[in-house]
Amino acid sequence: SENLCKGLYLFTTELPTRPLLFDFHGVSMTHHFTDNWEKVQSFQARPDDILIATYPKAGTTWISYILDLLYFGQSAPERQTSLPIFMRVPFLESDFRVLPPGTEVADKLPTSPRLIKTHLPVQLVPKSFWEQNCRVVYVARNAKDNVVSYFHFDRMNMVEPEPGDCNNFLQRFMDGKMVFGPWYDHVTSWWEKKQTHSKIHYMFYEDMIEDMGRELDGLCSFLGLSPSEEEKERVIRGSQFDNMKNNNMANYSSIPVMDFKISPFMRKGKVGDWKNHFTVAQNEQFDEEYQAKMKNTNLQFRTAV
Ligand code: A3P
Repeated sequence: SENLCKGLYLFTTELPTRPLLFDFHGVSMTHHFTDNWEKVQSFQARPDDILIATYPKAGTTWISYILDLLYFGQSAPERQTSLPIFMRVPFLESDFRVLPPGTEVADKLPTSPRLIKTHLPVQLVPKSFWEQNCRVVYVARNAKDNVVSYFHFDRMNMVEPEPGDCNNFLQRFMDGKMVFGPWYDHVTSWWEKKQTHSKIHYMFYEDMIEDMGRELDGLCSFLGLSPSEEEKERVIRGSQFDNMKNNNMANYSSIPVMDFKISPFMRKGKVGDWKNHFTVAQNEQFDEEYQAKMKNTNLQFRTAV
């Protein structure tokens, strides 16, 4: 793992050019997530693997950190100070060249369970996760805060496509031309999958903001864990926004492709920040399109708590 971390520093001498979006099995993607596709599709999951699935910017790092603390916070405290979160929880489909591809990091993970992150829409998830009947923790975030977070992320992350201005980005989001495809399809297809696959725990960013204690209890009961009150308190405290923001192993500060002067990875961590970004006209158009796109689902989001 030390060598893997060192590999990161190659980024500093080789700043990548921004990738282009293209259609991949009906989903917009960049080559960073398709270059290693054969190995992704043939990835061998294990029955105790836990797949963390999200649309980008829905709270992936937050839930990853919570799960890592829950499973390994006490048994392997050195992980907390020596290994950045993205090395503890490999990003399955990623292939950033200067880092080993996500499948390789996952294959070499010494932990049990393995925590594995994906942003893939449900239809593209490697089949062995279903064959092995793995647990999946899905986190969804309301579309308005999700798009705002995605915009700031794409501004500062050089391995993402050029975001353009706020208005164009919003239009692209509504058109589904984002890396990993339309938010609408992502959240609803995973929601549908939950009806047939009992081992999906579907969580909401807004619920986690509202009451982390309650959400942690639900998560633990899904995982079959029964941590002590003290242990839960430690997880909740460690995963608070300010604590993660100040924690170099959780805040992505060791990744030079992200320019924190433009926008930090741990940006605001709020529900409702969209109100500081959307104009009245944009909001009306967004609501109208939202209703049309979400008319066939009973999945409900909150844009305020
Ligand atoms: P904002 O840009 O709105 O601040 P992901 O990990 O999926 O990329 O999601 C990143 C978003 O989750 C960012 O949202 C980030 O600030 C937020 N986030 C990360 N850790 C958090 C925490 N502990 N509490 C609340 N929000 C958190």
